[in-house]
Amino acid sequence: MRRTLIAGNWKMNGSLASIEALIAGIKTGLSEVDKADMAVCPPFVYIPRVRELIGDAPLALGSQNICDQASGAYTGEISGAMLQEFGCRYAIIGHSERRSLYGETDALIAARFAMALETGITPILCVGETLEQREADVTEQVVGEQLDAVIERSGIESIGQCVIAYEPVWAIGTGKTASPEQAQAVHAFIRGKLAAQHAEVAEKVQILYGGSMNAGNAAELLSQPDIDGGLIGGASLKADDFLAIGKSA
Ligand code: PGA
Repeated sequence: MRRTLIAGNWKMNGSLASIEALIAGIKTGLSEVDKADMAVCPPFVYIPRVRELIGDAPLALGSQNICDQASGAYTGEISGAMLQEFGCRYAIIGHSERRSLYGETDALIAARFAMALETGITPILCVGETLEQREADVTEQVVGEQLDAVIERSGIESIGQCVIAYEPVWAIGTGKTASPEQAQAVHAFIRGKLAAQHAEVAEKVQILYGGSMNAGNAAELLSQPDIDGGLIGGASLKADDFLAIGKSA
């Protein structure tokens, strides 16, 4: 049985004051979330403070990216070892905003993924199609190629050590959620594609849905057989909404 994971992607939001309030709020309701694991992915600079604020509460910590290199002259990047020092369990990799706004290619994303595994950090690998691609009916091809880039570099067994997040680009931050059927169809495609290469890996890997998931639509999405959690943007910035998603698992 796969556990449900609800991970908050804070993106570039927050301040020292607001993250204190947010973590305090989340902590007050965590004991009522019994069917899901919860995680937060703050901006890099807030990771040490969030680690302190979490204390020993059952709330995992993740980053929003990770460097593909171990150390050295890579201005602006953060290594897996650094993230390890601050207790990061997860790193989001290949988010569509990284792909589209910052030009991250499949090859770079595969390299970041490999480095995360090498440093003991669980990648949350994001895949998903744009609206144009969906309308052109190439969703499976696009998602398949995004997965293949990682599998070619790190092998099919590496997928058993990661979390996949299916995030249709047209649903991110737009208020337009994929319907539970639309999301389930792509999740089933992903699991089927993996199963063709390695049944155990396919059965084990958690596949999260992301894209305007909120307290109102989470229960129905999470009830789909191949949706094992959510990667939550906007709704993860309000403790009550984030907790409500966890409770609906
Ligand atoms: P959203 O973002 O929930 O605000 O749509 C999800 C994401 O980008 O991970």
